Amino acid sequence: MKIIAIINEKGGTGKSTIATNLATALHRQGQRVVLIDADQQGTARDWRAASPEDADLPPVVAIDRHQMLASSLAGVLADIAIIDAPAKAESMAAAIIRAAHVALVVIQPSAADIWASAAAVKLIQAKRAIGGEIQAAFVINRASGNTTISKTIIDGAWNDYEGIEQLTATIGNRVVFANAMAAGLSVLDMTDTIAKTEIFNIIKEMETALWLNP
Ligand SMILES: Nc1ncnc2c1ncn2[C@@H]1O[C@H](COP(=O)(O)OP(=O)(O)OP(=O)(O)O)[C@@H](O)[C@H]1O
Ligand SMILES: [Mg+2]
Repeated sequence: MKIIAIINEKGGTGKSTIATNLATALHRQGQRVVLIDADQQGTARDWRAASPEDADLPPVVAIDRHQMLASSLAGVLADIAIIDAPAKAESMAAAIIRAAHVALVVIQPSAADIWASAAAVKLIQAKRAIGGEIQAAFVINRASGNTTISKTIIDGAWNDYEGIEQLTATIGNRVVFANAMAAGLSVLDMTDTIAKTEIFNIIKEMETALWLNP
């Protein structure tokens, strides 16, 4: 099972939004996907509870105690587990990075998000330092290229971390992401084709990098 963590200890960067949409898109590609809600806040559970009964969505499983993450994941039967990580939860973030094969660090194009992402970067580097393998990339959410700072962040020039790239695919600031979340659905169920393409592009980029291979 491939374990993909959607992470950043800063609140509100878009982790749950990206996790629910990636999980749904991969599920509809025919993969066995489980969305792991590792956040006591329960956003992914609330999302799934709001879904129409007949919606074609992946199951959501709550594992919100860091001491139980590894053992609970070992009992999950799926091709891909997407972990929706919590904000401000150091022990859980560490457990998630330990378990994950791939980490997507979600940032909005702001200095605050980049500073806050240093905590996730440290965990990734610490795992590698002891011989652990993990693929990692930043993914920009709510990208809008109007200011100099956001342009610099979107084009990746700020990123000099070795071994943590930035995905070329970005997610725009689109109301359809908020609407899909509120409806317990994904942007695949909505009419905004750009939002769907953005999600598919992230998957394509991960496929090309062979990050989704078993
Ligand atoms: N690309 C986007 N376009 C528009 N709104 C967005 C986008 N991404 C996230 N949002 C909105 O921003 C808010 C925070 O998003 P989300 O819950 O996904 O963040 P989070 O990182 O999971 O937060 P937390 O740290 O609290 O778990 C939500 O209201 C969501 O609808
Ligand atoms: Mg969340």
